[in-house]
Amino acid sequence: MGTLIDVRLEALAGRGAPAFSPELIAGAAIAACDTPTQSCRTRDPAAALDARTFYLETFGCQMNAHDSEKVAGFLLGRGYRQVETPGEAQLVLYNTCSIREKAAQKVFARLGDMKIMQGTGKWIGVLGCLAQQEGEEIFERAPWVSLVCGSASYRNLPGLLADLEGGNQRVAGLDTDTDETFETELTRRDNPVRGYVTIIEGCDKSCAYCVVPSTRGPERSRPSASVIEEVRQLADSGFTEIQFLGQTVNSYRDPSSRRMSFAELLAAAAGVAGIRRVRFTTSHPRDFGRDIVEAIDATPQLCEHVHLPVQSGSTRVLRAMRRTYTREEYLEIVAMLKSARRAISLTTDIIVGFPGETDADFEETLSLMDVVQYDGAFTFAFSPRPSTDALRLPGAVPEEEKTARLAILMQRQREIQQARNAALVGETFEVLTDGASRREGQWAGRTSSNRVVNFASAGPVLLGEYVPVRITKAGPNSLVGERVI
Ligand code: 5AD
Ligand code: SF4
Repeated sequence: MGTLIDVRLEALAGRGAPAFSPELIAGAAIAACDTPTQSCRTRDPAAALDARTFYLETFGCQMNAHDSEKVAGFLLGRGYRQVETPGEAQLVLYNTCSIREKAAQKVFARLGDMKIMQGTGKWIGVLGCLAQQEGEEIFERAPWVSLVCGSASYRNLPGLLADLEGGNQRVAGLDTDTDETFETELTRRDNPVRGYVTIIEGCDKSCAYCVVPSTRGPERSRPSASVIEEVRQLADSGFTEIQFLGQTVNSYRDPSSRRMSFAELLAAAAGVAGIRRVRFTTSHPRDFGRDIVEAIDATPQLCEHVHLPVQSGSTRVLRAMRRTYTREEYLEIVAMLKSARRAISLTTDIIVGFPGETDADFEETLSLMDVVQYDGAFTFAFSPRPSTDALRLPGAVPEEEKTARLAILMQRQREIQQARNAALVGETFEVLTDGASRREGQWAGRTSSNRVVNFASAGPVLLGEYVPVRITKAGPNSLVGERVI
C-alpha cells in the first residue's frame, strides 16, 4: 500500500522508535502539507515561534478524533504547522467531549491549566461538544479563551480564524441549525491503516440521557457521490481499510437524487478498487434493517462486526430512555445477525443506574447479555447531563449502587468474552497489521471481526500488511497467535 508498506515494523521496534513514523502515517493525505508531529519535534526551536502554528488535543469519541483530523487538515491547508506542545503554538485547540460529567471535568481542568497562557497573545480555542454545550459562558469561566466553536459550525472555521487573525479577541461559532456537513479539501490522517469517513453528522434521536442531539445538531447526511469520492482518494493514498462514521451511522439518508440506502453505500465503498475492508459505527437499532446483514453476507470486504448499543435489557428502562425499541425488538435484530452466513461479531454500549432502574431491571440487562453473548461491551454508569430530559426523571440511583452494578456487569461481560475468545483457539484469521505489539517482539492487528490479535512472526511484518494468523491463546480482550507461513 504505497508508502505505508515500506515500513518494517521489526526495524522500528528494534530502534525503540514509536510504532509509526508520522511521515508514513497518512500517505499522500499529508504529503501535500507541511506536516506533522515527528518532524516538528526536530525543528529549530526558533521556528516554533512562528505565528502559523497550532497545537490540537482531542478528548472523547471516534467522531471527535476524526473531526480533529479534519480540523488539522484544514489548518495545514491554510499554511499552519502542527506542534507538539501548547507552549510552541500560536493557536491552542481543545476538541472536547461532554458525554459524561467526568469527560467535561477533564476538559475544564485542562482549560484551567491554560490560565498561565493569559496575556501571551496566544489564541486558545475550545471546539466540540463542551464548546457547544457551554457556549459563550466559556469566555466568562476561562477569559483566556478566544475561540469557542461547536462541531456543527466547523464549516465556519475559515471565517472564525480570519476574525482571530484580524485581531478579534473573542469569536464563537455556535449555530446548530444547519443542513450542511463539514468537508475539508485535506484531512490529516492519524491512523496509519484505517481511513475514517464521516457519512452522517448530528443526531435526530432524542435519548433522554444524551447531550449529542444538542451538541452536534440535527442529522445531516453527505451525498453518496462525495462519500465514495473520499473512499477513492483514501484507496489512492494507500488505505485498504475504511470506517464509515456517524453517531447513528445506519440512519444515513442520501440527500442526492441517487437516494442510495446505507446498505448500498456500504457495498459501493466495498467495490472501490484497493479497498479490502469496510467498517461502520455506531448503528442504532431502530434503523438496522435486514439489508445491512444481507450486504455483509454478500460482500467479503464488509467487515463481520456490528456495534449495536442496547443501553439496557429492560423494556421499561428503554422506554424511559426513549430508545424507541423494546428488549424483544432488539433481540429480533440480534437473531437476524446471528442467522447470517458469516459469523458477525457483535458489540454494544450499556448504561447502568439510569433513573428508576430497579434491581429487576438490572437483572434483565444481565440476562440480555447472557442471551446475546456480546464480543465486547462499553459499560457506563449513568451521568446526569445538562439540557437532557433524564435530569427531570425521579428515582436517581445512588452512586454506590451504580458502581456496584457496573462492577457486576463488567465481570459478567469479561467471562463471556473469555469464553467466546477461547473458542477461537486453533482457528486462522486474516489480521491487518496496525503496529508493534506491547508484547516484546510481536506485532498487533485486527481481524475483520475487530478482535485485537498479537502475533509472532518468523519473518518481517509490514505496517498495513494482511497476515494469516493462527490463534494459540485467548484472553478476554485480545488473542495471541502465530503467523501462518
Ligand atoms: N451517562 C452515561 N453514559 C452515557 N452515554 C451517553 N450518554 C450518557 C450518560 N449521560 C453512553 C451511551 C452511548 C455511549 C457513547 O455513551 O452508552 O452509547
Ligand atoms: Fe445520543 Fe441516542 Fe443519538 Fe446515540 S442515538 S447519539 S445515544 S441521542
